[in-house]
Amino acid sequence: MPETPRHPREHWDGVYASVPVEETGWFEASPTVSLSLIERCDLDPADPVVDVGAGASSLAAAFLERGQRDVSVLDISANALEELRSRLGPDRAEQVRFIHADVTEPGLRAKLGPVKLWHDRAMLHFLTSDADCASYARAIESTVMPGGYAILAAYALHGAPT
Ligand SMILES: C[S@@+](CC[C@H](N)C(=O)[O-])C[C@H]1O[C@@H](n2cnc3c(N)ncnc32)[C@H](O)[C@@H]1O
Repeated sequence: MPETPRHPREHWDGVYASVPVEETGWFEASPTVSLSLIERCDLDPADPVVDVGAGASSLAAAFLERGQRDVSVLDISANALEELRSRLGPDRAEQVRFIHADVTEPGLRAKLGPVKLWHDRAMLHFLTSDADCASYARAIESTVMPGGYAILAAYALHGAPT
C-alpha cells in the first residue's frame, strides 16, 4: 500500500529530530549572503523583521548582533524552533519572538503583524501547489509594510539535495 504523505509539519519535525543541523544540506555557519542583502535595506533598529522558515539558522542571532530590536522567527516545525532557541541561549532567545506557524495559513498577519523586512532562505520552494504559492504571496502582501523589503533566497538548480 502506498504511504500516506505526511503533513509538512510532521515531515519537518522528523527532519530536525533525526539530522543534526550541521549535517543538513542547507546549513551555513554564517548567513553572509543574507546579511549583505540586508545591509542594503536601510533598516532602523526598531523596524520589525522576520525570518520565515527560519529553521535553526544563525540569522536571528545576526539580526540581534546588528542591533535589530524587533526580531521574529517563524517556522512550521516546533523542533526547529526549539533547536534555534537552544542555539541562541536564554538571553538572546528572550529578545526574539518565536512563531510556530505554517506560512500558508490564513490570517498570518494577525500572528506576525506588519514587518519591514521579510527574509526567506530556502523555504519558498517547498510550497509546491498553486494554492500554497498564492497563500505565500498573500502573506507577503498583507504583512510587508509599504516601503518594506522581501528577500527570497532559493536553492540553485543543482543545489542541496535535501
Ligand atoms: C531548508 S530549511 C531552511 C532553514 C533556514 N531558512 C536556513 O536557511 O537555514 C526550510 C525550513 O522551512 C520550514 N518550512 C517548510 N515549510 C514551511 C511552511 N509551510 N511554513 C513555515 N515554515 C516552513 C522548515 O521547517 C525548515 O525549517
